[in-house]
Amino acid sequence: MSDILRRGRLTSTPDEDMINFTSSMSADKWIFEADILVDMAHTVMLHEQGIIKEKDCSSILGGLLKIKEEGIGKLDHSYEDIHISLESRLIDIVGEDTGGRMHSGRSRNDEVATCIRIRLRDELLSLMEELIVLRMTLLEKASENTETLMPGFTHLQHAQPTTFAHHLVAHSDAIGRDIERIIGAFSRVNKCPLGSAAFASTGFDLDRERTRSLLGFDDLLGNSMDAVSTRDFLIESASAMANIMVNLSKMAEEIIIWSSSEFSFVELDDMYASTSSIMPQKKNPDSAELVRGKAGTVIGSLMALLSLCKALPLSYNRDLQEATPNMWRAVETTRSAVRITKGMIATMKINTESMAEKSVLGFTTATELADTLVRTAGIPFRTAHQIVGVLARGNGRPTLDEIDAVAQSILGESLSERGLTGDMVKEALDPVMNIRRRAITGGPAPDEVRRAIKVRQEEIKNTQSTIESLNRSVEDALNILFSVVEGYTGKEI
Ligand code: ARG
Repeated sequence: MSDILRRGRLTSTPDEDMINFTSSMSADKWIFEADILVDMAHTVMLHEQGIIKEKDCSSILGGLLKIKEEGIGKLDHSYEDIHISLESRLIDIVGEDTGGRMHSGRSRNDEVATCIRIRLRDELLSLMEELIVLRMTLLEKASENTETLMPGFTHLQHAQPTTFAHHLVAHSDAIGRDIERIIGAFSRVNKCPLGSAAFASTGFDLDRERTRSLLGFDDLLGNSMDAVSTRDFLIESASAMANIMVNLSKMAEEIIIWSSSEFSFVELDDMYASTSSIMPQKKNPDSAELVRGKAGTVIGSLMALLSLCKALPLSYNRDLQEATPNMWRAVETTRSAVRITKGMIATMKINTESMAEKSVLGFTTATELADTLVRTAGIPFRTAHQIVGVLARGNGRPTLDEIDAVAQSILGESLSERGLTGDMVKEALDPVMNIRRRAITGGPAPDEVRRAIKVRQEEIKNTQSTIESLNRSVEDALNILFSVVEGYTGKEI
């Protein structure tokens, strides 16, 4: 048997069905490059610690560079995973007497955990950048629409007038929290399990700190058993992604509703629309529907991760192999949904007239009218609520006389006697005035929303520099690794 893994303890070879069942090769394409980095850092450290000779170290590193160049396609896909297939290719290239030394003091258990963390941290960094672009797009659209009236809804019923900007800033704040959650997850993902070996570490005098720093991790995982067993960093990342998808699905749902003839608040750019194979007139918001639908995929990945990890005994169990593809599915889906949502929002046409027209439908100014009765006539809010509630049975445009008549029947007194005037009523029923009045922190008054947008744009600048420094610290570390490898091999990376 030429299989470098099974030729010792095992005597029979798995059939195709068994290979397909146990192999992780198809998901391992995500960690091919990370695995080479891990192999490089481990090999350099093995030599620095006097565990392998310099000539073996140089040949192994040269072999790894060749494998990197050849790409994953050159590997033997009948092996059960990328790690063993890569090691077998290395042995093909440099011979077993050299290549067979690379795995000293290491297990695939700490190796795979390290690879997943390396790839995931890159994905998290890209996701953060994409979320920032989405947030900036929402704020940009908001700043163009601080005076754009629209009806605000509760229970999807017309409730109070607001502005499109106020609505968009709400979504942008949710995305801001999503970014914070991903930054939090990153800090726990970027920790190094390497050196833990199977679970009980190793008797070789490894320098864990050296591989940690060459691979750009912020810290070590302190307990070797925990380091190989835990996938809580996947659960946490997928959970943050599920939250992102829930937030995106809410925007998507609104875009779908707003694109209907009943609402006609927005029209998606043709690029983001589809048509019907039978109804020639159709323009459908399919991309928004798919964002909504893909939220289910990511939630499903999170559920799979949770169920896979539940009640697993320490330390490594092969079940964990099933966890990883769920992470890749979640991150790939979430990243594309963020980009598509950004594109839809950046390019959609906003039907400001239709929005403004509908902003007063359903007597949305009723709360302001009740508040006006409280402020001008000094009656309790609960009484004003009753008076305006009775008036709401009408057409939603009550006159001073009508208000007085209802007040008379409820209070035994007219409100104009208490200082209410026709102008005050008119102002209360004006949606623009409704919004201007709501100028306290977080309200829809145009000046307040403009202030809120500025604050958030500053916030984004700070987040951007945080992300830049996270990126830089990974890059700097890997550049050191590459120059060390260049030193041994004389080959530029
Ligand atoms: N393909 C495996 C995974 O993804 C790698 C670790 C295998 N370890 C083992 N003891 N069989 O988890």
